[in-house]
Amino acid sequence: MTETAEDTGTTGRQAGPDASRHVAAEVSRRRTFAVIAHPDAGKSTLTEALALHARVITEAGAVHGKSGRRATVSDWMEMEKARGISVSSTALQFTYKPAGSPEDDDPYVINLVDTPGHADFSEDTYRVLTAVDAAVMLIDAAKGLEPQTLKLFRVCKHNGLPIITVINKWDRPGQAPLELLDEITEQIGLVPTPLFMPVGIAGDYRGLLRRGDDGAPEEYIHFTRTAGGSTIAPEEHYDPATAAEREGDVWETAVEESELLSAMGQDHDQELYLAGETSPVIFASAMLNFGVHQILDALVELAPPPHAWDTVSGVPRETSDPFSAVVFKVQAGMDAAHRDRLAFMRVVSGEFERGMVVTHAQSAKPFTTKYALTVFGRDRTTVETAYPGDVVGLVNATALAPGDTLYTGKKVQFPPIPQFAPEHFAVVRAQSLGKYKQFRKAIDQLAAEGVVQVLRNDIRGDANPVMAAVGPMQFEVVTARMKTEFNVEVVVDNLPYSIARRTDAASADELGRQRGVEVFQRTDGELLALFGDKWRLQYISKEMEHLTIEPLVADT
Ligand code: G4P
Repeated sequence: MTETAEDTGTTGRQAGPDASRHVAAEVSRRRTFAVIAHPDAGKSTLTEALALHARVITEAGAVHGKSGRRATVSDWMEMEKARGISVSSTALQFTYKPAGSPEDDDPYVINLVDTPGHADFSEDTYRVLTAVDAAVMLIDAAKGLEPQTLKLFRVCKHNGLPIITVINKWDRPGQAPLELLDEITEQIGLVPTPLFMPVGIAGDYRGLLRRGDDGAPEEYIHFTRTAGGSTIAPEEHYDPATAAEREGDVWETAVEESELLSAMGQDHDQELYLAGETSPVIFASAMLNFGVHQILDALVELAPPPHAWDTVSGVPRETSDPFSAVVFKVQAGMDAAHRDRLAFMRVVSGEFERGMVVTHAQSAKPFTTKYALTVFGRDRTTVETAYPGDVVGLVNATALAPGDTLYTGKKVQFPPIPQFAPEHFAVVRAQSLGKYKQFRKAIDQLAAEGVVQVLRNDIRGDANPVMAAVGPMQFEVVTARMKTEFNVEVVVDNLPYSIARRTDAASADELGRQRGVEVFQRTDGELLALFGDKWRLQYISKEMEHLTIEPLVADT
């Protein structure tokens, strides 16, 4: 018989010192992170490179469907099939043991949670960042910081996530290292503290100088290209004197730059990194597998393991407490034949065992976890046990929505996930008035599920709600689900707004009278003012300082 947490405080294993020691050991070897990047910076290539360097537990194949690699396009909706969007790669789990660690040490368990970033960019992308403990900010060496990276950075900052920066594509011509580092400081106020300096300019990447105290070189790691970058790049390690002899000027330049950075105080400081003020930097080429070991080493050495989470009661949930988890993403209709609904939870505390009966905090109802999976591309693997930091997909989770809490033992509830700044707006209405009742029910359900935010105002009336989304694909998801699940054909008319700001009742009327501005109430009661463009927003904010116009999370 499977014992539930009500009996034991964990599952299977009796509660007690042994169980909590076991969970503590699993927690200390876990790292759960996401990669934030603008499309094409190399996120998929890096994911594959990380998997190549590690023992992949849940998937041995390729990550995405670019040319020459195995496609992992999900088959849940024709719409997505046509576009080649992979919606089902949610978390990749792998183990990693840094070189030189004692043989009988357990390897680290790394959870890489995917942030959908191309056309499937949506509020889910932001929500993922509430379910991880750290982030890797991946930057294209030639392009520097790009808009989507900036948005995701803001969410990381809001969530207090420590960030490791990876400057990718160093094998190609790009900007000078110090220029790129300056750009990071200037644009986002994060102080970059390189762990290594690149040896060789962008385009002629030979290896890395490991920075020691005061920027003095500790060693030189030289990389050798392999055919097509498809295997781990061999590394040779040299002392600084040999490096100087071998590389000459490019080595000297790296030493000078390293010392200059130290003089500016840009050395790694673990406390400041954990506080989100500084960011260790690694120059890499995901394609050639250069610097990838170093990224993994930095993750296990510097990134924090899962830690206690805030709860609505104010008492933090310790990782050693009985099982609890937070739902951060729900996917409906992934399998057209079964119309299933998959909810992804991140374990916050205790040990999860498949089959255990947990309580859904929002409905106070029991939930059986018989069908617990990891989902990666087309592959679904049953999960038997999971620990804090791990991601588990629950099948047929019809009652679950992003932000919901699952727990065993005494009731616990995590704060809701905030609603992020939408940038796309469209009126949606039922094609036939006769379907109004179904339409109303459907739109409210889709809002509750977090598919889109729903806004209303008296002028447009109840029959013409406005959908607000982070990514425009969500409107197509709504249209498709309305038809297949609720049997309602809808008409969608895009609105010419691109910015939302929070306002209040005292400011709403006056704001609503301004040209190019419209005020709505969101289903959670928040009042949002929509603006056509940033110039209008700037003008009104400046001219009418007495009005409340506040940014939302992830606002640009
Ligand atoms: P994404 O998931 O962030 O969108 O990026 P992805 O990995 O798909 O990489 C985007 C393009 O950049 C790909 O080229 C990829 O090969 C290339 N790339 C990634 N990392 C590196 C790197 O370290 N160095 C160089 N030189 N290129 C890199 P593509 O031509 O669009 O696709 P593909 O046909 O090569 O797959």
